[in-house]
Amino acid sequence: MNILITGACGQLGREISALANSCANVRHRYICTDIEEYDGVAPLDICNRANVLDFVQKNGIDCIINCAAYTNVDKAENDYTLAEMLNATAVRNLADAMADCGGLLVHISTDYVFGGNDFCTPIAEDAPQNPTGIYGLTKLHGEQQILQSGCRNIILRTSWLYSVHGKNFMKTMIALTASRPELNVVVDQAGTPTCASDLAMAIFTILEDEKYAGNEGIYHYSNEGVCSWFDFTVTIAKMCGHTDCKIRPCRSDEFPSPVVRPSYSVLDKTKFKKVFNIEIPYWTDSLSKCIEASTKL
Ligand SMILES: NC(=O)c1ccc[n+]([C@@H]2O[C@H](COP(=O)([O-])OP(=O)(O)OC[C@H]3O[C@@H](n4cnc5c(N)ncnc54)[C@H](OP(=O)(O)O)[C@@H]3O)[C@@H](O)[C@H]2O)c1
Repeated sequence: MNILITGACGQLGREISALANSCANVRHRYICTDIEEYDGVAPLDICNRANVLDFVQKNGIDCIINCAAYTNVDKAENDYTLAEMLNATAVRNLADAMADCGGLLVHISTDYVFGGNDFCTPIAEDAPQNPTGIYGLTKLHGEQQILQSGCRNIILRTSWLYSVHGKNFMKTMIALTASRPELNVVVDQAGTPTCASDLAMAIFTILEDEKYAGNEGIYHYSNEGVCSWFDFTVTIAKMCGHTDCKIRPCRSDEFPSPVVRPSYSVLDKTKFKKVFNIEIPYWTDSLSKCIEASTKL
């Protein structure tokens, strides 16, 4: 297959592109794109429908991995138009392009399409969606656009993504716990951190391994385990040896934020594990590898 990667300079896009460029015996041809041209990355703005349809046709694309998105959860609250354009309207461009040629769209969505649940049990794929903010709402619209288009699709919802690249919670907390004497971090929101390299490997394996062909649908993928943002921060600080910073748990309503985040958005991965025989690492194991990798950059 000719596989188009969009948003190839983002956290996830970089990890998938790296696998495509470094693994031996790769079955497919991968073409990396992002909104701006970069080393080995072609320019493709997914909001430009004519350009998307043209690019897909000219390059004989039969699969798209969509890693492009509007991902700033706080900023989205005051930027609905752009968030909706990128997370929903542009996704329809990709979906229609795949519907036209019978291709497969692999799309990444989020735990924030859910608003959490009162029973604090991991959330299944078919649970009712009730996003608490604009980011989650526009990502939900993106999923709906894909389903309406009728294209073949795999929608992977993930959570709390971090990597050695870009701006993310792990990198922010490495810096803050190194420089601040104390820090308050919310303890009443639970989820699962997911290392972008693990998700990238899962997507890459699903596409490269012939035995997984045909398993379309919605899946949940995160690392294993559950924690709060407070636990995540304490673990980061311990792994980095940042013992001088006093980290205190606080409640969400004590922390100024323009958006209400779900209090419990742990994803149930039962379906993913049943269909794909891909091992999912525990969150602290992946975190420690990622922290080690970030010190070598
Ligand atoms: N980050 C999380 O915690 C998280 C959690 C759950 C799910 N997800 C989902 O996982 C996926 C990957 O997230 P990520 O954290 O890897 O995202 P990211 O690091 O923000 O990367 C997104 C990439 O898309 C590019 N982009 C922006 N506008 C574009 C356009 N019009 N056309 C083409 N590319 C464009 C961005 O470029 P610029 O940087 O120049 O804007 C960036 O390189 C997303 O679908 C996201 O919703 C993320």
